Amino acid sequence: MHVVRVTEFGPADSLEWTEAPDPEPGPGEILVSLTAAAVNRSDLLYRSGQYHSGPPLPAVPGSEGAGTVVALGANAGEFALGDRVVIWGPMGTPGCYAELAAVPVDRALVVPEGVSLVAAAATPIAWLSAWYCLRHLVDVRPGDVVLLNAAASGVGSAAVQIAKDAGATVIAVVGTAEKEQWVRELGADHVVRRDRDDVLATVRHLTEGRGADAALDLVGGDAFATAVRSVGHAGRVAAMANVALDPTTLDTRDFYPKNASIFGFQINDLMRHGWDPRPDLTALLTGIADGRFTVPVDSTFPLAEAAAAHRRLESARTRGKIVLTI
Ligand SMILES: NC(=O)c1ccc[n+]([C@@H]2O[C@H](COP(=O)([O-])OP(=O)(O)OC[C@H]3O[C@@H](n4cnc5c(N)ncnc54)[C@H](OP(=O)(O)O)[C@@H]3O)[C@@H](O)[C@H]2O)c1
Repeated sequence: MHVVRVTEFGPADSLEWTEAPDPEPGPGEILVSLTAAAVNRSDLLYRSGQYHSGPPLPAVPGSEGAGTVVALGANAGEFALGDRVVIWGPMGTPGCYAELAAVPVDRALVVPEGVSLVAAAATPIAWLSAWYCLRHLVDVRPGDVVLLNAAASGVGSAAVQIAKDAGATVIAVVGTAEKEQWVRELGADHVVRRDRDDVLATVRHLTEGRGADAALDLVGGDAFATAVRSVGHAGRVAAMANVALDPTTLDTRDFYPKNASIFGFQINDLMRHGWDPRPDLTALLTGIADGRFTVPVDSTFPLAEAAAAHRRLESARTRGKIVLTI
């Protein structure tokens, strides 16, 4: 089979299009012929040697994909040859930047009719993370005002829809005029341009001084501090990434006097500690099949052009997900 491999950490061009032996499904595994693999910022971080975890080199990146079951190991559960499935796993186990992947049955789900494999491939990381943070951690309720940083990103564009679906008013933060219009069309009630507006002052103005009820931060650095300062009494803030790769300076008086809570989230750490994502992912896939959610795809690239896909994500101009087609 063909794969895209990282043999040395470096820029996008260090991704190597090469051949590797076909994997075979072991006991409790299925073999999937991949149709699509989604690109995540963690792939960029891993490729450039900045990710907080990941396999030793050489390795095939990619944590999520979708395709068709082409072989079954012993005890492969309910799966059958020809099933359309979505698969996921920690970086490199197996890497989804490949034509074939063998995965344990508890890291696969059948994709419902009406959901394309390109859309399905983009759900286990960005969408599921947004879902978990908003539904389980900050627990968005009807009528809540929710602040979403990087709202046009892969995670952010999922978060806008999940928060709206839960009955919230969404204040979306974006960095460009193009993204401003785009997130409005996605459902955001208010859009703050971080390149132009004062985010904290705008949230206070929009909430008549009360502050937001909840916030989801992916950006880290000053944006995380602003998110914490933007919530009001009993506000809930989830932090799940640091795109800026910057530290944050916070005063504990920014949150304890208002009884605010701060939650951390990392999907692989949670799975390693026993969380089974399948019920939440099933709910999400059902929402996509029903038309409640749409997975926005910024662009697709053939697998062999993964380097171009990485450069596109690095540009920070993307709206929604980038998907590699196989
Ligand atoms: N914890 C977890 O389990 C988990 C799960 C999934 C994803 N993540 C992480 O979540 C983050 C978001 O993922 P994603 O796929 O949604 O990201 P993405 O599509 O690459 O979007 C990142 C966005 O962040 C904004 N941004 C703000 N400050 C920035 C800066 N200094 N440099 C670059 N971009 C900046 C940009 O949008 P604007 O210019 O519009 O602000 C950019 O488009 C990534 O770090 C990813 O690794 C974590």
